[in-house]
Amino acid sequence: MGRFDLVVIGSGPGGYTAAIRAAQLGMQVACVEKDGPLGGTCLNVGCIPSKALLDSSELYRHTRLGLAVHGIKTSGVELDLAAMMSRKDRVVRGLTQGIASLFKKNKVTRLAGVARLESAQRVRVRGEAGDEVVESARILLATGSEPTPLRDLPFDGDRFVSSTEALTLPRVPRRLLVIGAGAIGLELGSVWSRLGAEVLVVELLDRIVPGMDRGMATVLQRSLEKQGLVFRLATSARGAERLADGVRVTLDTKGEASVVEADVVLVAVGRRAYTEGLGARELGVKFDERGRIVVNQHFETSVPGVFAIGDAIPGPMLAHKAEEEGVAAVELMAGQAGHVDYDAIPNVVYTWPELASVGLSEEAAAERGLKVTVGVFPFQANGRARCMDETEGSVKILADAATDRIVGLHILGPRASDLIAEAVLAVEFGASAEDVARTVHAHPTLPEAVKEAALAVAKRTINL
Ligand code: NAI
Repeated sequence: MGRFDLVVIGSGPGGYTAAIRAAQLGMQVACVEKDGPLGGTCLNVGCIPSKALLDSSELYRHTRLGLAVHGIKTSGVELDLAAMMSRKDRVVRGLTQGIASLFKKNKVTRLAGVARLESAQRVRVRGEAGDEVVESARILLATGSEPTPLRDLPFDGDRFVSSTEALTLPRVPRRLLVIGAGAIGLELGSVWSRLGAEVLVVELLDRIVPGMDRGMATVLQRSLEKQGLVFRLATSARGAERLADGVRVTLDTKGEASVVEADVVLVAVGRRAYTEGLGARELGVKFDERGRIVVNQHFETSVPGVFAIGDAIPGPMLAHKAEEEGVAAVELMAGQAGHVDYDAIPNVVYTWPELASVGLSEEAAAERGLKVTVGVFPFQANGRARCMDETEGSVKILADAATDRIVGLHILGPRASDLIAEAVLAVEFGASAEDVARTVHAHPTLPEAVKEAALAVAKRTINL
């Protein structure tokens, strides 16, 4: 029987990062994964394949529509969907194989199969070649999440699909109905819209991307509408029927019914913790009312020696949050001061323009009774954005009105996903708006918009 200091269950960004960090700290580590490739949802059917398709589809759209303004004439631009999908698969394969190499390099033992807790120190791994039981001083649950189905529109893997199947559609649907205007709905809706589908996005609330800055969400919606996406807000799906060549879905907008037809329906109404068959409940691990594992500040569950991180526990369902928790959890196990700063977790929606944020929104600040000073700078006034012909959006900084400390930073614009890193660093270091405003930024670059928004907090922008 194998004996380890730590058995990590799940090899997504949370699990594999925790396994490697634990090995660095001198632990004998095993990582159990039920699927063939390592990497979990993020690498196999989430962040990575979706970004590969977002980058490819954006290039396609840009080549068709965005080059003329630069004086570049194009003709005969054609989509080769099979080649685009193969490239995506190659990107995924390269990265998942990379984790296998990292495991080898760090001497993390890979156990292939489905893990079930037999006790707080014993895990049964049901693999293709039979069962293996391993003992471990500690167990870390990093089992992630799965798409939440809608009762009236259950997944069938064909017409009613989750993000997983929406990453591998064999052809561009003529009409795609997206339920849910969160990150997944907008990102995959964008991909298929750019590739030629008519996309209708239905959202329960009266706004898109709830949780993000409301004003920026409105501008993003307008921008996506210009690209061809159609939104139906304050609307829910009330049932559907399969037709010979598609589906018919009944929608309900504030009590008013309507019917739409589509070839494919992408249900993207959120994800839920995945802990099926794990045996954690039977062992006495406590769950909250939403099926998430309850942990203390050391990421330890109600069963001593059993820990949990990532999407399986409360908090934003983000790969980088899971990674940080994985590192913090094993550092705490090793007696170090592992810590996650939950006030400095970036959130990005990879549409074009991209929407990124860190810290509080204006609404959240108001709810906390925190008085903030707001500085805004539009990309329209940024030299580099003008050179790129990417002038949509703006940077908004919220600073504590009393101390000038940055409490929230929101960016809608080109490469907001990259620009937000500076903001996260500022929040992590407790920077004031003036600190950022007095930091030299290379000219001409997009990050100058962040500096100018910081200047705007003190009402002293130069270029506006
Ligand atoms: P989400 O929670 O971000 O958005 C779901 C949307 O569906 C919400 O706007 C919600 O109001 C709406 N909704 C809920 N029930 C509905 C109904 N019955 N009819 C119509 N609309 C309904 O969930 P999403 O987009 O599925 O993503 C799942 C998780 O994965 C999220 O936690 C998200 O943060 C994460 N994720 C993050 C990405 C990123 O960081 N770029 C990319 C993809 C996913």
